[in-house]
Amino acid sequence: MHIAVIMDGNGRWAKQQGKNRVFGHRHGVSSVRDTAEACAELGVKYLTLYAFSTENWFRPQLEVSALMTLLLKTINGELNTLLKNDIRLNAIGDIDSLPKSVAKELREAIEKTAHCKRMELVLALSYSGRSEIVRAMKQIALKIQSKEISLHEIDDNLISDSLYTAGIPDPELLIRTSGEKRISNFLLWQLAYAEFYFTEKFWPEFNKEELYKAILDFQNRERRFGKTSEQIAS
Ligand code: FPP
Repeated sequence: MHIAVIMDGNGRWAKQQGKNRVFGHRHGVSSVRDTAEACAELGVKYLTLYAFSTENWFRPQLEVSALMTLLLKTINGELNTLLKNDIRLNAIGDIDSLPKSVAKELREAIEKTAHCKRMELVLALSYSGRSEIVRAMKQIALKIQSKEISLHEIDDNLISDSLYTAGIPDPELLIRTSGEKRISNFLLWQLAYAEFYFTEKFWPEFNKEELYKAILDFQNRERRFGKTSEQIAS
């Protein structure tokens, strides 16, 4: 199973506590840890977290740099836990646009956990679903131009394989916290058949219990992929 999460509401949660937004992000890291641990325990094979969108670069400079520092510290601090729990780290997005120190730490952690088999933790960083599709289209156009492939070879599989998520199965479940009901440019192609689960909880309030609720809700839905209930039953 693959679960994708839009971690939303760190800022609002912090405000509720009378604290600044960065306080919220810091607490958000505990929810990341809790969710990753619960997913690994349950046998979830892929967990993708929307940690930083390309739009997030337009936030106040102080918040952006605090998020980058937090990311750097978290990757650094959690590497041994990832290794111990046999969790492979991966990243999707424009990694080259991250501060050099963050990109370097990230690449090293990805390399060091490459052999891990239990679960893959995918961080979407400087990620935008539309940019991902544009990038894929350009790659495919180049292959056509150089005659490496012909027009009739363009199909769903080729497009999937040209995205950042090549080799990763599509998510079955998308969770978004904080009551917002939007996709916000996240995994536009990959979420085609996903079930969406929305909770009012802010991301720092999200924990194992909340994840179990989301999964139980998902398990009670009937996924028809455009077919009728009768076709699915037979
Ligand atoms: C959304 O809340 C949260 C983010 C944009 C950042 C998420 C980052 C973390 C939880 C920390 C680092 C993550 C990892 C994977 C190490 P918001 O700021 O949009 O909240 P708001 O909507 O209430 O303003």
